[in-house]
Amino acid sequence: MIEILEKPAVVEKPDFVEKEEGRHVVYTFQGRTFRLDKEKARARLAGKMVINGMKSAELNVLPLKYHEAYRIYKQMKANHWEPDVIDMTKDCATWNSNKLNARERWIIEMGVGYFSAAEGIVGDSVLHVIEDNLTAAELKHASLRQIAEESIHMDSLLHIIGSLNIDLDEVTAKFQDIPSIQKKNAYITRHMPELKMGIDLTQTVNKQKFAKALFGITQVMEGTQFYALFAMILSLHRQNKMTGIGQMFQYTLRDESNHIALGRYILEKLIEENPDIWTEEFRAELVEFMREGIALEKEFVMDCLPEDMVGMTQKDYLDYVDYNADRRLTSLGLPALSNVKNNPFLWLDEVIFLKKEKNFFETRVTEYQTSGSVKNTNEDDLI
Ligand SMILES: [Fe+2]
Ligand SMILES: [Fe+2]
Repeated sequence: MIEILEKPAVVEKPDFVEKEEGRHVVYTFQGRTFRLDKEKARARLAGKMVINGMKSAELNVLPLKYHEAYRIYKQMKANHWEPDVIDMTKDCATWNSNKLNARERWIIEMGVGYFSAAEGIVGDSVLHVIEDNLTAAELKHASLRQIAEESIHMDSLLHIIGSLNIDLDEVTAKFQDIPSIQKKNAYITRHMPELKMGIDLTQTVNKQKFAKALFGITQVMEGTQFYALFAMILSLHRQNKMTGIGQMFQYTLRDESNHIALGRYILEKLIEENPDIWTEEFRAELVEFMREGIALEKEFVMDCLPEDMVGMTQKDYLDYVDYNADRRLTSLGLPALSNVKNNPFLWLDEVIFLKKEKNFFETRVTEYQTSGSVKNTNEDDLI
């Protein structure tokens, strides 16, 4: 039984204080205090595991074991945004004029076409493959927030399609047949059906399948295969073209950085609790999986940007794939696969995290962040 004792003003920094008071244990964190029955709280804490832990119908986040997951949840909530408040008037006028050349239109169409399917794949996989198999409440809680955000991303694509009056069936049909998209989607969903049916996660081989799916969705797909196309659309935004779409992709990318951080955190805790999975062979398998993901992504980048255009050099985007892939690998203690050490798009940091440059965009950059948070605290996770 949790009793909320007080509700002071929101504190800036996450804190956590635990002290015993008779048969209670009192937790203070995030500016709130909770009183829990000591014995029950201890039993719940002891039963908390990433997988194979105590199952409970109640989403009992307290007492917290995985503090970082709750912090990321709060960060995700602070970044909340709604697509339909983004003004698309200017995008609509640009789209219906001759202000965009054929290649720029193609990038926008690829953005809508690819992400319409990709956001659905991520949302469905996080729900049925990741969240379903997690047993710790605060990890499930943060994952559920991620699923809600994937729905917001899907809604943003609907807002674009509706505003530009794009024929939905035409776009869907057009992108279903592009081999580089088909291959990317097939690669990431290859092992999902088995995991969705529920597997025995007490066996090492199955725990590895789960870990690989987690790595695949959050580090390869969201962390590596989303970024080049995001960067192309934000490069158009930077040139003051399709700024409504750019703004939505800016918010989406900021959300994705939290999803990547959450996925990595869950993976780290999973490995910590299940050292049997982290064998040399398994680490090599993850690196190979990423290598395949990079090759598919580069094929896709060349489809999106077949040759250099004003302000957009194909090589930079290919390097960006390597740069992001290496960051995801090395952050998990895995070896880098390329020699790309520098981020070719440093300006994206500014765009995503809204450290505004004066007159950077013609449109007003809305500081679309609620109180309680300024930016993602772990800058290393970002883009
Ligand atoms: Fe997303
Ligand atoms: Fe995501």
